[in-house]
Amino acid sequence: PFINALIVAAGRGERMGGGLPKQYRLLGGKAVLRHAVEAFVDHPRVDRVAVAIAKGHEELADQALAGLDVTIALGGSQRSDSVRNGLSALRPGVVLVHDAARPFCPPRVIDRLLQAVSNSDCAVPVLPAADTLARGGEWLEAPVDRAGLVRVQTPQACHTNKLMDAFSRASGSTTDESTLMLAAGFSVATVEGDPMLDKLTLPSDWDRAEAHAAVGLV
Ligand code: C5P
Repeated sequence: PFINALIVAAGRGERMGGGLPKQYRLLGGKAVLRHAVEAFVDHPRVDRVAVAIAKGHEELADQALAGLDVTIALGGSQRSDSVRNGLSALRPGVVLVHDAARPFCPPRVIDRLLQAVSNSDCAVPVLPAADTLARGGEWLEAPVDRAGLVRVQTPQACHTNKLMDAFSRASGSTTDESTLMLAAGFSVATVEGDPMLDKLTLPSDWDRAEAHAAVGLV
């Protein structure tokens, strides 16, 4: 099939702090978004890369993506709106939807996803939940049995027609494609994820990412 990548980069990145939205901050001399996009531009199986950006971020995106062969789409107010808008920039086939806030995507994860989605509706990278899990806020309320729980990362691979079908039947926004696909009754296969794919959300995540960029793991 034709392999699309859709990088969603239309968030405001407010939890990260620091003024410039996180996807445009430099990590080892390169914008976070550019790191994220290059993983797909450089992958031999990926045929087209589209990027959903926020209105008003056009110049930032042009600068971050200078010289790369990508299609730009406008995002929306929720992540799921950005994905929905970005779908119009794709060709029928398979799409790998990926968060710009996950700048280091190992090529082997893309290989695993493309293999798995060849006999499923959707495929996602997961890692086991290693910490103790519980409900709570200021006070801990109740433990949650972590057996059988996983952390779901991106990229998430879907057949474009099935993802469109899932959107057409969706009510409200979802945080990722796997949730949307499950709600629509589609099957979601898992492949082994990678700690390098953990999302940059909080300021402390930034230090970890700087360290990765500095030791040349990218
Ligand atoms: O905010 P969060 O880190 O969960 O966002 C995950 C990804 O979704 C980020 O790469 C962000 O830029 C993107 N996003 C988007 N459109 C939105 C909100 C988030 O493309 N409206």
